[in-house]
Amino acid sequence: MNDDFTPLSQACVNIEDRGFQFADGVYEVIACFGGTFIDLDEHLERLWRSGHAINLTPHLSMEELAELIHETYRRNPYRDAMLYVQFTRGVAPRSHLISKGMLPTLVITSRQLPSITDEKLHQGATAITLNDFRWQRCDIKSISLLASVMGKQEAARLHVDEAFWLDEDGHVLEGCSTNCFAVMDGELLTHPLGHRVLEGITRKMTIRLARKHGLSVCERPWKLDEQGLSEVFMTSTTNAAMPVCQIDGNMIGDGRPGNISLSVRQWLLNHFKELRS
Ligand SMILES: Cc1ncc(COP(=O)(O)O)c(C=O)c1O
Repeated sequence: MNDDFTPLSQACVNIEDRGFQFADGVYEVIACFGGTFIDLDEHLERLWRSGHAINLTPHLSMEELAELIHETYRRNPYRDAMLYVQFTRGVAPRSHLISKGMLPTLVITSRQLPSITDEKLHQGATAITLNDFRWQRCDIKSISLLASVMGKQEAARLHVDEAFWLDEDGHVLEGCSTNCFAVMDGELLTHPLGHRVLEGITRKMTIRLARKHGLSVCERPWKLDEQGLSEVFMTSTTNAAMPVCQIDGNMIGDGRPGNISLSVRQWLLNHFKELRS
């Protein structure tokens, strides 16, 4: 935290931190497999982009932050790790207006990355849909996640894994903590970038790998009831690509993980392995 490495139980923030008072901050979640960080540069660039969008400039360079992330991992070297990095605007007497010359608060943690069991992969994930009630700048990776917390909580109440946000016309935007893809007549579809979805690092890698393997990918709005939809999968740093086999109680395709979703997952895992070697 800031300039210190502290046991988690002893790390505390000031109650006047604007992260605590206003959720005034941005964050990243980065995977590290066997000591190799996955797309660290892309995560840092997105962190800077998110910061720039809210006029929050980190007080150190990307290189300095990368070194601190590496050091946090060296001190907490899980085989498959998840590095959480958060900047808030810093500490000031509570006022909506931002004080001049604030020093951002920086927090980095390294934890075990939760793994997906073979059994879960075999079953596939389940989801619900909800009308999007988030703010209109979902492209910013903001720590203001109350809507996502509510979406996930509703999913948990209904014993499913994820909630997908729908726009006013019923198009699938993304999940609470995932991007979402459909397979339609053999082509991959995902909602185009803009203010209503986060530009997922895994989304970007998925599109690149799919095209490399000869799959057509179209970034356009899509709906769950479109003719020809055979598979759905979600992507994120913590899931790679995960097949979704049931949404709102309706089976997708034959209700089992589809071949294209499983191939995409394998391409991503192979890509991570290549980075390691
Ligand atoms: C709303 C949302 N969309 C998509 C993603 C996936 O992004 P990434 O692949 O960079 O982990 C996340 C990750 O936290 C998210 O919160």
